Amino acid sequence: MSSKGRIKVGIVGYGTIGKRVADAVALQDDMELVGVTANSYNHRIIAAQRKGYALYAVGDAAPLQAAGMEIAGTMDDLLAKVDIVIDATPSPLGAQNLVKYRKAGVKAILQGGEDADAAECSFNAQANYADAVGKSYVRVVSCNTTALSRVLGALSSRAKIGHVSATIMRRAMDPGEKGKTVMNAIEPSFSFPSHHGPDVKTVLPDIDIFSVAFKVPTTLMHVHSLEIELKGPLTTEQARDALREAPRIHLLPPKAGLDTTAQIMELGKDLGQPRGDFMEVAAWEKGVQVEGGKLHVIMAVHQESIVVPENIDAVRAMMGDKDAAASMRKTDGTLGIGKRAHKGK
Ligand SMILES: NC(=O)c1ccc[n+]([C@@H]2O[C@H](COP(=O)([O-])OP(=O)(O)OC[C@H]3O[C@@H](n4cnc5c(N)ncnc54)[C@H](OP(=O)(O)O)[C@@H]3O)[C@@H](O)[C@H]2O)c1
Repeated sequence: MSSKGRIKVGIVGYGTIGKRVADAVALQDDMELVGVTANSYNHRIIAAQRKGYALYAVGDAAPLQAAGMEIAGTMDDLLAKVDIVIDATPSPLGAQNLVKYRKAGVKAILQGGEDADAAECSFNAQANYADAVGKSYVRVVSCNTTALSRVLGALSSRAKIGHVSATIMRRAMDPGEKGKTVMNAIEPSFSFPSHHGPDVKTVLPDIDIFSVAFKVPTTLMHVHSLEIELKGPLTTEQARDALREAPRIHLLPPKAGLDTTAQIMELGKDLGQPRGDFMEVAAWEKGVQVEGGKLHVIMAVHQESIVVPENIDAVRAMMGDKDAAASMRKTDGTLGIGKRAHKGK
């Protein structure tokens, strides 16, 4: 840590997740964004330089410098200056980079694309913050697993729940990507269960969950449909209240014209979120219903931003801060994540 006591953070991998986490780190008064890696010359790196972020070249700096980028050093130089790295490279690079982090003596956060056994523990702030306290290598679970963990954690603290069946409609690619998938098709996953269910158990081991997944031709958000067996009394209103009162879940009011993922993303823009992001789980209030001893939940997940607050809390936990609630409050305050849900129609 620096003399001022701020945690020195470096970002390795400045893509969809890395650029958002970098901005979030820069907003924390207990953290210092030392710099971000530049892998190739592109619009993200141009924006990083304009924001004043120090750029550290992953490989040869010459092409970046030839394109007008100011390069502060190599990735090894960045590692020599930080307490902790947030690695947001495509899998399996994060796990492979651990050799470098160990050698440099820095802690590291990996993302959900990496295998769970690559790190000492998987992480979701609401589910298992305490497990990451003081750890050196932690994996923040994926966007879908983060959403499932927030919602199932909130519900299981209110009622005894049994088997969970999750159907996940996954966005085919992120809005800024190109050429990753077909445009007019739905692609089922033939993994039974899909990796999401087992992944939830890395942070909530007592949840009995089975998931199936489909890739659908949209870029905006994922949508989940959950059927949750109830082993104790829970009314529709109690289930809605449990989600309304939980952190990082936004219960969408039924008559506000928020019927599609496009409208939810528009709400993110109207709320003034950076890039129009939506870091909370967006659960449709009218999609939360108890029917025949089962609770149904329909929710949307903004894949590009939902893990951003989790990365910030993971930094604090790994650097020894034991107060999960205080960390989450601080993170949410700085990122503009509020309890905006209400009982309106
Ligand atoms: N996107 C999502 O929806 C999402 C959601 C939750 C979790 N995750 C997870 O987050 C991780 C990152 O995903 P992403 O979507 O942010 O990926 P991404 O948009 O493809 O960004 C990856 C970044 O890593 C850089 N990179 C590539 N090779 C590198 C290397 N050897 N060293 C340093 N940087 C390198 C890329 O550089 P270039 O700019 O040169 O390509 C790019 O900036 C994955 O584990 C993923 O599963 C993704």
